[in-house]
Amino acid sequence: MPIRSRWIALGAAAGITVVVIAVIAVILSGGDDSSAPTVTASPTPSSADGSFVPLTAFQARVLGFDLLDEVELPEDNPFTEAKSELGRLLFFDPRLSGNSAVSCASCHQPAQGWGDGLSLSFGYAGSVHWRNTPTVINSAFHPKLDWDGKALRLDIQAQGAMKGAVAMNMDPVMVEERLRQIPDYVKRFDDVFGPGGPWFTDASRAIAAFQSTILSTNAPFDRFLEGDEAALSESAQRGFKLFTTTAGCSACHRGRLFTDEDFHGLGVPVPEDFSTDPIREITFRYQLHARGVSEDVYRSATDDPGLYLVTKIETDFGQFRTPMLRELGQTAPYMHNGAFATLEEVIDFYDAGGGESPNLDPLISPLGLTEQEKADLLAFLHSLTGDPVLVEEPELPPYEVIE
Ligand code: HEC
Ligand code: HEC
Repeated sequence: MPIRSRWIALGAAAGITVVVIAVIAVILSGGDDSSAPTVTASPTPSSADGSFVPLTAFQARVLGFDLLDEVELPEDNPFTEAKSELGRLLFFDPRLSGNSAVSCASCHQPAQGWGDGLSLSFGYAGSVHWRNTPTVINSAFHPKLDWDGKALRLDIQAQGAMKGAVAMNMDPVMVEERLRQIPDYVKRFDDVFGPGGPWFTDASRAIAAFQSTILSTNAPFDRFLEGDEAALSESAQRGFKLFTTTAGCSACHRGRLFTDEDFHGLGVPVPEDFSTDPIREITFRYQLHARGVSEDVYRSATDDPGLYLVTKIETDFGQFRTPMLRELGQTAPYMHNGAFATLEEVIDFYDAGGGESPNLDPLISPLGLTEQEKADLLAFLHSLTGDPVLVEEPELPPYEVIE
């Protein structure tokens, strides 16, 4: 590049940087403060009297909040309609579980926001789960899955769900044998993955392709981002501003899914039913052992170790993956252990500065929110919920003896 054009390019880059910094400065300062009255007539800031300047859709995008774009599956599992349709059948098929009684959809129910509506999940017969079931809506966008981020791909996550003693307790060879006695599946696997199957890994790939179609639609916040500023009530607009400024939520809940995809300790309280069910105690300790936790820890632990299960690093104890905040209206109860039944409880928890944890994140501290501010945050959180993502429950192909 000739020196002159290089200077022009540099100048342009510097110009853009200045504009971005200026926009962020305006956002953080809460707009044009010089014209805002220091004492407002009404206790609730309002754009009518100039005491509240909402963020624009443009500013929201500069801050990194954006529409969901196309999902990309890994290169070795490209999306096709036929694969996704096969995945839909498998997602609803209980024959993928050891006792042929639970399917993925037993815990990820479309009518329950693709979760199960329980604080802690029910688990495979004879065991009781010790974590809350997250939704699978938008799960194809997450680079890490599960509350402790242990799975890095949707298909690998599905394999874990099928094999896991507390979910579907299934042996991969048994899955393959069952699928081979269902002629319709044999044909579909043949068409999608080529002859020789069905294989367990291909089943997980088809399920991943299907899950990549379960996406948020029509959330008011997305309509706002597209330029319809009336899609957010003034309360939700105030909530959005609080979220990105004084309440500090966007330090962790950012980007188009409202998550940094990282781990933090909030000290969410242990719900009573976590430690009052002997079967859950058995499942919990067995699972800790199975994941390589030392005996002194798995016998004495009174709470979910979270990220520690993956890293075995002391300071990761009690840290969990920041969940996305889209579709909260469909996915109560909240947190890794379902400790909070409502979003009001979640907001009160943050307002109080989180809970007790030796690894409490430094970003968590008391907020001193007014009742109006809490209501505003709530209105904003509700604007992230779109239409229910409903999928018809398929009619499953029958077994037949195949030689
Ligand atoms: C017994 C209930 C149950 C069944 C059956 C079940 N799941 Fe889950 N699912 C859960 C729970 C609980 C978690 C959280 C696990 C964790 O954090 O360790 C989860 C996590 C997930 C996640 C991660 C979501 C996220 O954002 O982190 C996906 C995706 C998922 N399951 C898909 C599936 C699929 C596909 C199947 C079927 C092959 C399945 N699940 C079967 C209960 C269940
Ligand atoms: C330090 C990072 C951090 C900050 C700051 C933060 N969160 Fe969270 N948020 C998390 C993590 C991590 C979880 C999951 C914690 C768990 O399950 O133990 C979570 C969970 C949630 C949930 C439950 C979601 C679900 O599906 O269960 C909501 C709602 C939520 N946060 C809203 C907020 C709001 C509103 C604020 C600001 C007042 C906020 N968060 C500030 C990290 C953060």
